[in-house]
Amino acid sequence: MGNVSVIGCGYVGLTTAVCLAHLGHTVVAADIDASRVELLNAGHAPMYETGLDQLLAEGLANGRLRFVNDSAQAVAQARFHFMCLPTPQGVDGAANLDALDTAMEELGDVFPAGSVVILKSTVPVGTADEVRARLLRPEVAVVSCPEFLREGTAVHDFLHPDRIVIGATNDRAATDVAGLFAAIDTSVLTMSNRSAEAVKYSANAFLATKLSFINSIARICESVDADVLDVVAGMGADNRISAKFLQPGPGWGGSCFPKDVAALSHLARSAGAPAPLLDAVLVANDEQINHVTTRVMQALGPRPVDSRVRCEARIGVWGLTFKANTSDRRDSPALEIVRRLQAAGLTVQAFDPTVSEPITELPELVIAGDPYEAAAGCDVLVILTEWEEFALADLQKTAEVMRAPRMLDARNIFAADTTQLDGFAYSGVGR
Ligand code: UGA
Repeated sequence: MGNVSVIGCGYVGLTTAVCLAHLGHTVVAADIDASRVELLNAGHAPMYETGLDQLLAEGLANGRLRFVNDSAQAVAQARFHFMCLPTPQGVDGAANLDALDTAMEELGDVFPAGSVVILKSTVPVGTADEVRARLLRPEVAVVSCPEFLREGTAVHDFLHPDRIVIGATNDRAATDVAGLFAAIDTSVLTMSNRSAEAVKYSANAFLATKLSFINSIARICESVDADVLDVVAGMGADNRISAKFLQPGPGWGGSCFPKDVAALSHLARSAGAPAPLLDAVLVANDEQINHVTTRVMQALGPRPVDSRVRCEARIGVWGLTFKANTSDRRDSPALEIVRRLQAAGLTVQAFDPTVSEPITELPELVIAGDPYEAAAGCDVLVILTEWEEFALADLQKTAEVMRAPRMLDARNIFAADTTQLDGFAYSGVGR
């Protein structure tokens, strides 16, 4: 079993730390946020992830996992160092590598000889080579091991991956890193660092492309009176296509897809191989967000909506996070739709199971305590996140509290059973 350090305790770093401890390794994880470290050592995860709390408790109890505020301390005793630092969107869409650069400067001389630096964060192609060149320590290997964790199911994805990708120039380091995951039954693909870095961006960009594609098809279906769910079933039955990741919605978001598609597009331009398809994927997503906003306004009927006049129409929103089972609202299409509805002069009130306080970036958004409070007095109710709680809601009660029972189900959560929608003027997306 290996001695591991994890630098950065966000959802990737923390998931990596608790799962590696669960696999039997000794893990010291570091974060610059002292209060986060204190909470983690007390067994409190700073974010909601299914299964995380249990593995955190397990690792702390059996002594294989601890958290420190000092990266150098974490690194000094370990052989494997997982760099799990944020790489947010920077200028022109390029990934901002400041956090990684700072950590490498601080730790460059501290990594023990013979140890392995593992780049887990999503980084532009060529980053591992640059890190190696700047490190100037041939006795320290630099390996790429991109993460493919979805928020909300990150622990499951870590322990049951479709594949593990390892990029390295040094066979021994690649084999040793693969050994850390020996208990996981999956294929390990070994390649160059650059290819491994490209796999990560390409995987996210492909998934985002699939979503922009199906959202575009959904808009076409609406115009030609076809049903996108039947189209997905028919297309998805083809093994080469698959119905996975083909559910239309209000647009895609989160902390990864928008920045990663933008970063890959930036990388393509700087490499002299521009990829207009990637820009179209981003444009199509913005169009979908706009389209759903417009459909909410159309559902209000022919009343004039003038952005200079605050009209009395009221919109209820169910769901603010970028998808269900996460408390993350970063780049959430729901927030953008609320912003555009408010800009059109509409009053918006929302319920999300993870939101109880007003949202700083949307101070005029009224936060409701439950789904019915969000629907109360509204002219249209729009579902923007697919929380199970909404599928289980009492729709008769919902219709009763609304001023006009109209629903735009932008996640198609009621698509399969429209009988319970009696009394509603209902529409989904792409149907
Ligand atoms: C994504 C990838 O799925 C992970 O493999 C990757 O590791 C991660 O980014 C990352 O780079 O860290 P995540 O951002 O958690 O994971 O979100 P997804 O579950 O992929 O969903 C992304 C967006 O697509 C959400 O807004 C979701 O609602 C939307 N979506 C997803 C749809 O609209 N329809 C679908 O069928 C699937």
